[in-house]
Amino acid sequence: MTRDDARKRARELAAEHRSRGDAVGWFEKLYVEAGGDAEHVPWADDEPHPLLVDWLAREQVDGRGRRALVVGAGLGDDAEGLARVGFAVTAFDVAPTAIEWCRRRFPDTRVDYCVADLFAAPHAWRGAFDLVFECYTIQALPLAIRERAFEPIANFLAPGGTLVVVTRGTDAHLDPHELPLPLTLAELARFEALGLERTSLLDAVTGETVPLRRFRAVYRKR
Ligand SMILES: C[S@@+](CC[C@H](N)C(=O)[O-])C[C@H]1O[C@@H](n2cnc3c(N)ncnc32)[C@H](O)[C@@H]1O
Repeated sequence: MTRDDARKRARELAAEHRSRGDAVGWFEKLYVEAGGDAEHVPWADDEPHPLLVDWLAREQVDGRGRRALVVGAGLGDDAEGLARVGFAVTAFDVAPTAIEWCRRRFPDTRVDYCVADLFAAPHAWRGAFDLVFECYTIQALPLAIRERAFEPIANFLAPGGTLVVVTRGTDAHLDPHELPLPLTLAELARFEALGLERTSLLDAVTGETVPLRRFRAVYRKR
């Protein structure tokens, strides 16, 4: 299966589920259909996101003695990247099959992989993390529910904690029904409205599989 086929199938599944009023159930369906073959998972890159790796190196991040949380962990590469620089990492995903897959891929991992829904996350995670990493989860949520995604993410941060968001970026939503739907800077500004301070913004066309405009926004909780 090519990456384009995988994207096409993901869009079909998302549309099918949305027509039944279910914005999130298609992720589990996609992971089940993939049957352990990452070629079927359009966002599987077998390595931590290059914009995360670049930020960790640039900031000379040392995670030892600090806790990190990965939102919508997918197949776990970002979580493993954060564990490698010393963080005690919790990584969650709403899709049980993704979490089982992470545990199978990384049998000796120090990452705590768990099934959880961003919209009903454990209370104990509130204010508990020095670093929160979100990559491509918000953009995969339809507009009707994504506006509720910002607050729980901001709330995971401990005082002084850092949030790193990597997402496709756009100036305007041309087709609000198409997923993934890149984020605008106005949408990202919700994090500031929730009391975070933006400390950097990268707005660039970056390579990976397809050259696309991406944002890497970094925030600090006061
Ligand atoms: C587009 S994928 C990106 C995965 C990963 N962050 C990456 O960059 O490879 C979005 C992920 O978020 C998960 N997800 C979607 N809605 C979620 C929710 N409400 N709570 C937790 N995870 C969710 C999906 O199951 C999927 O693994």
